[in-house]
Amino acid sequence: MRLAFALLYLLAVSPAYAEQGDRMKGAALADQGRNGVPACRSCHGDKGIGDGSGAFPRLTGQLGFYLYKQLKDFAAGTRPSPVMSPIASALSDREMQDVAAYYSAVQGPFFPLPILDAKLAQRGGMISAAGIPERNVPACIACHGPAASGMQPSFPYLAGQYAPYLEYQLDQFRLNRRQNSPLNVMNDIAARMTEEDMRAVSEYLAAVRPPDLSRIGASSTGPASPYAGAPLATYQSTR
Ligand code: HEC
Ligand code: HEC
Repeated sequence: MRLAFALLYLLAVSPAYAEQGDRMKGAALADQGRNGVPACRSCHGDKGIGDGSGAFPRLTGQLGFYLYKQLKDFAAGTRPSPVMSPIASALSDREMQDVAAYYSAVQGPFFPLPILDAKLAQRGGMISAAGIPERNVPACIACHGPAASGMQPSFPYLAGQYAPYLEYQLDQFRLNRRQNSPLNVMNDIAARMTEEDMRAVSEYLAAVRPPDLSRIGASSTGPASPYAGAPLATYQSTR
């Protein structure tokens, strides 16, 4: 079965990001940039939390290897972006490792949740947990980990990522503009989803909070996620 094969492939080909970057150097680049490289913070926000608009992805606590791979792919053009490709092309391999190490280790608060369309979010929750069997769409959590909170080394967390960004990426996969997922596994999945499926699962995922971080959210940045309850009990922190 194609999915099982893809999973095996992905786990076997967890490339050498064993070499850990220098977080301090990464933090300096993120906050200040350097000659020829803008500060990542100017778009991705303090500690990579974004600006709440969803135009820029949250990088906070994302898997280090995944971040590093994205920078490589932006530079190589398998994930073309008019904004990120020139920035990534200006970075050395070492700098990519440093800044990936920094963002993977940093924690930061969430913006308050937007008001959810309950029906849409419920459908999104079904897609995330069980997929869309009649159209052969697998459950997102099969690869993206329990509560879609990420799985080492290369399955990014989707939980807490901004909905407009997630929707945009699914569309980029569907249109085959983003071609950097191994065996094009995400392109195949997105091609079988409708626009409404994409919107539903994105709305839902954006509202999911890992339990440890939802406490921070509850105390300082707004209400805790309604999805931070029992289903997340199996969550294992990788951040
Ligand atoms: C001018 C704004 C801007 C700056 C500055 C910027 N980014 Fe980005 N970044 C973006 C946008 C927009 C995207 C989404 C690109 C897309 O997929 O179309 C993005 C996406 C990313 C992603 C992919 C995240 C994911 O979940 O797949 C990574 C990693 C990233 N940026 C790292 C960096 C780093 C590291 C720096 C600093 C060296 C940086 N960015 C500076 C705007 C910016
Ligand atoms: C067979 C494994 C697999 C399944 C199932 C899967 N994904 Fe993915 N997904 C991946 C991999 C691997 C990546 C990272 C690709 C890369 O390296 O850029 C990814 C990346 C993504 C991204 C880009 C994240 C970012 O930060 O840019 C989105 C959005 C996404 N997946 C959504 C979904 C949704 C929604 C589902 C369920 C309908 C799903 N995925 C199911 C393997 C999977």
